[in-house]
Amino acid sequence: MPTTVILGAGIIGLSTAHSLTLLAPPEHRIHLVEPAPELFASASGKAAGFVAKDWFAPAIAPLGNLSFDLHRALADKHNGRARWGFSESISYSLDHDDSLSTTSADDPTDPSDTTAGDTKGGGGGEPERASIDGQNVDDQIPVSGRNGSQGQGGLDWLLNNVSRATVVEGDVVEKAQSESTGANDGDDLPHWLRAKPEALQLISDRKSTAQVLPRQLCEFLLEQCLAAGVTLHQPARATKVWRDEHDPAAVTRIRVEYLGPLAQTSDGRARTVDIPCDSIVIAAGCWTPQVYTTLFPNANRIPRITHLAGYSVTFKSKYWPPVRLPANREALKGSAPNPPAPSGPGAATTTSSSVSALVQSNVCHAIFTNAGGFAPEIFSRANGDVWLGGLNPASTQLPELPTDATLDPGEIERLLAVGRALCGEDIDLRTEGLCFRPVSVTGRPIITRLHEADLGDGAKPGGHDGAGGVYVATGHGPWGISLSLGTGRVVSEMVLGRETSADVSALMKW
Ligand SMILES: Cc1cc2nc3c(=O)[nH]c(=O)nc-3n(C[C@H](O)[C@H](O)[C@H](O)COP(=O)(O)OP(=O)(O)OC[C@H]3O[C@@H](n4cnc5c(N)ncnc54)[C@H](O)[C@@H]3O)c2cc1C
Ligand SMILES: *[C@@H]1O[C@H](CO)[C@@H](O)[C@H](O)[C@H]1NC(C)=O
Ligand SMILES: *[C@@H]1O[C@H](CO)[C@@H](O)[C@H](O)[C@H]1NC(C)=O
Ligand SMILES: *[C@@H]1O[C@H](CO)[C@@H](O)[C@H](O)[C@H]1NC(C)=O
Repeated sequence: MPTTVILGAGIIGLSTAHSLTLLAPPEHRIHLVEPAPELFASASGKAAGFVAKDWFAPAIAPLGNLSFDLHRALADKHNGRARWGFSESISYSLDHDDSLSTTSADDPTDPSDTTAGDTKGGGGGEPERASIDGQNVDDQIPVSGRNGSQGQGGLDWLLNNVSRATVVEGDVVEKAQSESTGANDGDDLPHWLRAKPEALQLISDRKSTAQVLPRQLCEFLLEQCLAAGVTLHQPARATKVWRDEHDPAAVTRIRVEYLGPLAQTSDGRARTVDIPCDSIVIAAGCWTPQVYTTLFPNANRIPRITHLAGYSVTFKSKYWPPVRLPANREALKGSAPNPPAPSGPGAATTTSSSVSALVQSNVCHAIFTNAGGFAPEIFSRANGDVWLGGLNPASTQLPELPTDATLDPGEIERLLAVGRALCGEDIDLRTEGLCFRPVSVTGRPIITRLHEADLGDGAKPGGHDGAGGVYVATGHGPWGISLSLGTGRVVSEMVLGRETSADVSALMKW
């Protein structure tokens, strides 16, 4: 029976397992191995979830395109809007220098303030201008929508605290702007943001960018995998690849050792399982080098993956999501505890479920800006949260497991300062996170089947009939959510010895 063991249950491992359940014949066995005691504690559960079709360097473009199509198709098929917050998203770059409202007559609940596209303020009080976190806005990096270029897919922009929006090429922006004549009618503006409309530059239309809630997407993928018969070993770790040397007909096995409460059997032995396997997919994000050296200690080269830490918070703002009052206002009154004052599209909201029904059709927003000495990214999400992140302290060490990350409260406070400046003093913090983007030397993902010669002289799977072997899928940096479904598709095709749906030949070098 063909068997594939996938190491790492982040979004890349899950997407690969999920795609294999769809493409492989039913007898193909699939195992997922994950050492963290809590699932989705990594970047895959904490990322923003921004998904783009064409924001990629040429080497990655076919994968980005495929992946975007797969995101949309999966959401269409399984009600992604409700299950993982899939939403079309409009992107803006915000020139922070010009962004904060200088007038105080901008209470969004003021009935007189109904002009579409007018400035919407935060929750009262004059915002502090010009200086967030002691940084002089004049020092800020230039904003996006212009030709920043990520070169051949490198991440210089990220390492330099510059927005990912700088990678958007001029023609993408022009296309967005020319195609969105009707879209930018005020209703689609991010009214929850304390910014003058003229400080916002449209950089993508709703057809070429989207958002997901990454954790919920991971949960969905895992649920589908389990329903299709995938075996999850968690918390557990693969410790060696071996073969019975006295038996020439023996198959290669991978040893999986259970951890935590499952680590020992009732009679005190270590609980392990040896899984005969043809294929091993290493999708352990930043931990990929450790996995690789554990399993192939004699390998003559290892994929070099470093980590880039990222802090994030989610919060509620009373201006997101906006409320559109129904024609019959009484209908709302009956169910909403505090019917908001009549107002324009920037109206405040309550969290009543009847209200959320009214906002189902609202598009989400992605805002890329240049405040605070880093490059904050702010997303209004389909579940009514706002996600804010982009603070990337260069020196944060990689913890042994994603669940071991310890947050520096000062960094969270820096994010919140930006959140308050841009969304009002009364934002309501919900979650805070620190996670790690896997980054390769080239800045591009590594998606490949390894040459046997590179694995050293120990036991290794596959190698017969050209099928099976060891695969690596990691290094997605700040784009792992966007590229996840396409990566899962092409890796599963590689495992099955098929032609890949996207040309990833440029990602096979490492
Ligand atoms: C703040 C932030 C915001 C982001 N926003 C976006 C965004 O908007 N859009 C986007 O596309 N991307 C975004 N990303 C990037 C994205 O989150 C990552 O590229 C992606 O999650 C990487 O997925 P992964 O499965 O490769 O790694 P991970 O999510 O890190 O998963 C790796 C898994 O491997 C496990 N593991 C560890 N050791 C072992 C072992 N020995 N054996 C087996 N498994 C092991 C880990 O526990 C973990 O579960 C963001 C990242 C950050 C940090
Ligand atoms: C994107 O994929 C579609 C198929 O879904 C294809 O027709 C199109 O040419 C692709 N575009 C690019 C830039 O690869
Ligand atoms: C972006 O810059 C590069 C080099 O700086 C240039 O070759 C390329 O044509 C530019 N692209 C656009 C769309 O301006
Ligand atoms: C980016 O920001 C982080 C956090 O503020 C800082 O530690 C790092 O040095 C910055 N990097 C650059 C190149 O400015």
